[in-house]
Amino acid sequence: MKKQHAQAQRVLVLHGPNLNILGTREPDIYGSVTLDEINGNLTKLAEKAGSRLTYFQSNAEAELIDCVQAASQEQVDFIIINPAAFTHTSIALRDALAAAQIPFIEVHLSNVFAREPFRRESYFSDLARGVITGLGPKGYELALDYVLSDRVAEGGASG
Ligand code: DQA
Repeated sequence: MKKQHAQAQRVLVLHGPNLNILGTREPDIYGSVTLDEINGNLTKLAEKAGSRLTYFQSNAEAELIDCVQAASQEQVDFIIINPAAFTHTSIALRDALAAAQIPFIEVHLSNVFAREPFRRESYFSDLARGVITGLGPKGYELALDYVLSDRVAEGGASG
């Protein structure tokens, strides 16, 4: 059965440090697609599905934490987050997501398991609904597809 929203579903996409320079940043690892292109594409997909998508990028841990705290006040239904390097360092951002109690998907453009060993540790994965890594910008689309699908209404991995 389709989830009935009294109001449009609200999705927040969060991007961590250095993702503002996608397109020129180590293109052999991160590709040539810019963050504006990723956000534009996700916005279109969400609009088509009648959902409201907002996005935010920061190089500052505190700003990302403030954004997660605000999301819980603003009744955001789902977060898609690429914490970037904070994935491997930020207990504070993890705690913010745990406190907000908003389901989230962790996305990485590169395959973090195929890179340096320190990238294999994440402070987020055990709290995440799911993790997508190594599929480039498509990973964000797949995460959004999940969020917009009926399965989210069930709150589970099956079906
Ligand atoms: C990243 C992977 C991280 O290890 C790295 O610090 C990033 C980007 C990715 O999307 O592949 O900045 O999250």
